[in-house]
Amino acid sequence: MFDITDFINTNRDRYVTELKDYLAIPSISALPHHAGDVRRCAEWTADEMRRVGLDNVRLIDTPGNPIVYGEWLKAPGAPTMLFYGHYDVQPVDPLELWESPPFEATVRDGEIYARGSADDKGQVFMHFKAIEAHLKKAGSLPINIKVIIEGEEEVGSKNLDQFIVANKPMLAADVVVISDSAMFDRGVPSICYSLRGLAYFQIDLRGTSSDLHSGVFGGAVANPAMVLAQILAQMKDKGGRIKIPGFYDNVRPLSEEERAQWKTLPFNEKKYRKDLGAPKLAGEKEFTVLERVWARPTFEVNGILSGFTGEGAKTVIPAVAMAKVSMRLVPDQKPDRVAELFEAYVKNVAPKTVEVKVTRMHGGEPWITDYDNPYVQAAGRAIEQGFGRTPVFCREGGSIPVVSTFQRELGIPAVLFGVGLPDENAHAPNERLDLTNFHNGIVASAALYTELGGMKT
Ligand code: BES
Ligand code: MN
Ligand code: MN
Repeated sequence: MFDITDFINTNRDRYVTELKDYLAIPSISALPHHAGDVRRCAEWTADEMRRVGLDNVRLIDTPGNPIVYGEWLKAPGAPTMLFYGHYDVQPVDPLELWESPPFEATVRDGEIYARGSADDKGQVFMHFKAIEAHLKKAGSLPINIKVIIEGEEEVGSKNLDQFIVANKPMLAADVVVISDSAMFDRGVPSICYSLRGLAYFQIDLRGTSSDLHSGVFGGAVANPAMVLAQILAQMKDKGGRIKIPGFYDNVRPLSEEERAQWKTLPFNEKKYRKDLGAPKLAGEKEFTVLERVWARPTFEVNGILSGFTGEGAKTVIPAVAMAKVSMRLVPDQKPDRVAELFEAYVKNVAPKTVEVKVTRMHGGEPWITDYDNPYVQAAGRAIEQGFGRTPVFCREGGSIPVVSTFQRELGIPAVLFGVGLPDENAHAPNERLDLTNFHNGIVASAALYTELGGMKT
């Protein structure tokens, strides 16, 4: 292991230079006109996997973006680790708020700024370099590895889900490892044992066949912007509780033990509020901030569109209004069930004066695991080798839909160790990754393979 860590330390700068090439490809899965870039990024990922020494590397076409697969299976008797990550990234708007161009990675104050740096190319690349270090230095890996990197995580992983269900023998492994989350805080590495799920919708309202003069017709027809606001206002009460009937039916209550454990985490509510620039925090009073974001479901309006929003004033009744809304789900809520409840509630509260259409966009199941297993303990030891500190256990509020699919379909535990930071602006302007965490993450990943290699299958 010393040799390998030495090798990683010696190559520190080269890793950053190479990562910049990866970050230069605008692999935005949400925008159809980037389809060519997404494919080019899949090819770059595959080429890199070949360069680091993986075998049988190939692109697997899907009805959407290609999946990249590779493996190294020459450690007979040793466990097999499935490594999962994603090469697609989120859109970059609003572009004018970026301090350097999103696809020209720039290092400032020990952090690399670019879309995809933390989420998730940087963290995927960290494992590529850990694999490379073993293969270059030792000529072999201490475990068998299957790598699967997808290009549709940011849009719901629908095709990967189907691929997993249809290819279980190909993906068979003892454990799945994922680095696509943040650590608890700077200097506080963590292992994540639960993610929230997601149910995402578009609501479309139509009042009339055309926009109307508000003086000529105002008073006689409904205003869809107003009606939309009234519908949305009925989703939550003042205390932050969601009013959709049945919504909380399957919410697993938090154990007192878990609540007590979270109270020991180094969390400063005042600093949290200040860092976010919020005048006051919101949410359910009976729950702490960590409980609200890790273990409680939410209803969010992602965006609203209707009517005249240009400069000046225009007197008009818009014909249509639209909103994108989503709910974060917690164990044991099911996205399909929640979708039925939501659609029924919208129908119920919407007045007859408008046409309402609800479209299901995407969803993902929440995930939780019992972290008392030897793989998680091995990961804990590896993180200590990379970061000089034992990790804390935490949940995350974000979603990685495919994690519960892996657990359900392959019947294997997942180890989520992410090295991002909560304030690294994933999905926002000026996304970045701390280069010390990136480097320590390579050391920790290389150590993880050694730790897993020492385990019985
Ligand atoms: N890497 C994130 C998920 C994440 C973020 C996990 C923070 C833990 C902490 C992932 O790329 C992501 O953004 N997922 C989407 C899911 C989706 C689009 C279906 C999300 O959470 O919004
Ligand atoms: Mn991600
Ligand atoms: Mn993301």
